[in-house]
Amino acid sequence: MKKFAKIVSLVLALTLCAAFAGCAQSSGGNQPAAANFTTVNPGKLTISTSPDFPPFEYTDDNGKVVGIEPEIMELICDKLGLELQIDAMDFDSALLAAQNGKSDAVVSGVTVKEDRKLIFDFTDSYTTITQAIVCKQDAGITMENLGQYSIGVQSGTTGQEFVEEDFGKDHVVAYDTYSLVFQALLNGQIDCIVMDDAVAKAYIAQNQGLVMSQTTYTPENYAFGFHKGNEELKNAVNDALNELIADGTVQKIIDKYMTE
Ligand code: ARG
Repeated sequence: MKKFAKIVSLVLALTLCAAFAGCAQSSGGNQPAAANFTTVNPGKLTISTSPDFPPFEYTDDNGKVVGIEPEIMELICDKLGLELQIDAMDFDSALLAAQNGKSDAVVSGVTVKEDRKLIFDFTDSYTTITQAIVCKQDAGITMENLGQYSIGVQSGTTGQEFVEEDFGKDHVVAYDTYSLVFQALLNGQIDCIVMDDAVAKAYIAQNQGLVMSQTTYTPENYAFGFHKGNEELKNAVNDALNELIADGTVQKIIDKYMTE
């Protein structure tokens, strides 16, 4: 009789264990029970980016894409039970990849603009920048005399749009990456660069003899641009992003990279 009771309790315990294991498995660890979104690559969040944009995204000594945005995206992926996949390319291609559904989203210091809202579903914004002018120390280029100079920009950026609107395409030279824009400035092929100020600061810190002055262009908000029509995924990422903004994590990450 004693032996029988032992066996019964053992069987009971085993059944309970199996039931719990089953539950844990079907809820998929971190993944919320109600995760009803789809992604380009199952189980992964695929983002396209132009990693020439420190401190937001750049390549470290090991060739890994790191920075403010990859770090935020890693934490969002943890919350959603997804693996982060980063596809690196130039900025124009990063926008196109998300537009064409090759990536789930473009995460590349993207400024929210009305015309881009027709192409992408944007998350809420998490930070703000303004355009700045970068030139050699003694060049003395400011917003007042900018129109007299040859201006370098990255192709597809807001910087390119603003200066072409103001001064015409003849004054503007567009390059695929900021490494090429800065090479052109240092070689004297262009007189200055118009670009996002936070990134300008990072390049100036790495290149001696360059200075920056602010422009009068309106401030711009960064957000993540999702392939249009995947509301479920965009909303899930947006909720996770807002949690990270609310608990101060996003600001902590920004502060960490800005002071480095
Ligand atoms: N914020 C600007 C824009 O959206 C420049 C972004 C460039 N990003 C990059 N990773 N190179 O047009």
